[in-house]
Amino acid sequence: MTTDRTEARHALDDLAPIYEAVFAEPPYLEGPRDVADFLQRYQHEHAVPGFRLVVARDDDGQAAGFAYGLPLSSTTGWWTGLLDAAPPPDFTREDGRRTFVVMELAVLAEHRGLGTGRALHTALLDGVTAERVTLTVRPDGPAATWYQHLGYTLVGHTRPSNGAPVYQSMVMQRPFLDGPE
Ligand SMILES: CC(C)(COP(=O)(O)OP(=O)(O)OC[C@H]1O[C@@H](n2cnc3c(N)ncnc32)[C@H](O)[C@@H]1OP(=O)(O)O)[C@@H](O)C(=O)NCCC(=O)NCCS
Repeated sequence: MTTDRTEARHALDDLAPIYEAVFAEPPYLEGPRDVADFLQRYQHEHAVPGFRLVVARDDDGQAAGFAYGLPLSSTTGWWTGLLDAAPPPDFTREDGRRTFVVMELAVLAEHRGLGTGRALHTALLDGVTAERVTLTVRPDGPAATWYQHLGYTLVGHTRPSNGAPVYQSMVMQRPFLDGPE
C-alpha cells in the first residue's frame, strides 16, 4: 500500500494496461477515450491528501491488479446525483474524514477467483480511519454481487453524466470486513 505521491504517479505504468484490459470487457466495453479519461482523472486523484493505492503482483513481479481510493471532501457532490429518494442530510454530510471512496478496483481476468480482489480491498482499507466506505458499481456486471459479498449495501442509483449508464451507489460502515476494527 502506498500513500506516496511520487510512487503513486509512477505506478500509472502498471495501472494503465490493467485498466485498459479489464474495462474493455463487458459490461464496460471501454475504449481509448475512456482510458484517456481515467489517466486524466488519476492525475488529480493521486494528489488528493489521503489517497491510497495497492498493486497486486504475480510471482514474476508483474502487476495483476490494483485498487485505489481517497476520502470524500467536505464539498463533494458524491451523494447529490442519486436517482432515488435523497438520503437524509445526516447521511450525506461530509467533513473530509467521514467517508473513504474505493475509486477503482480491478484484477486481470487470468488472476481472478484466487482471492486477489479481496486481498486488494483488505489492504486498501487497512488503516483507513473513516467511519464508512463507498463506491459505485455497474449493476449489470459481476462486481455488484461481489461487493455485496464483501459486505456493501445499496444506497441508491446514480448516473455519473448524461448518457452514462446507471450505477449502484454502495456503502459499508465500520467495522470493515477483514479490515481494522
Ligand atoms: C470484481 C473483481 C475485482 C473480483 O476480483 P477477484 O480477484 O476475482 O475476487 P476474489 O477471488 O478475491 O473473490 C473474493 C470472494 O468473492 C467471491 N466472489 C467472486 N466473484 C463473485 C461474484 N461475482 N459475486 C459474489 N461473490 C463473488 C469469491 O467466491 C470469494 O469468496 P470468499 O473470499 O468469501 O471465499 C474482478 O472480478 C474484476 O476485476 N472485475 C472486473 C473489474 C470490475 O468490475 N471492478 C469493479 C469496478 S467498480
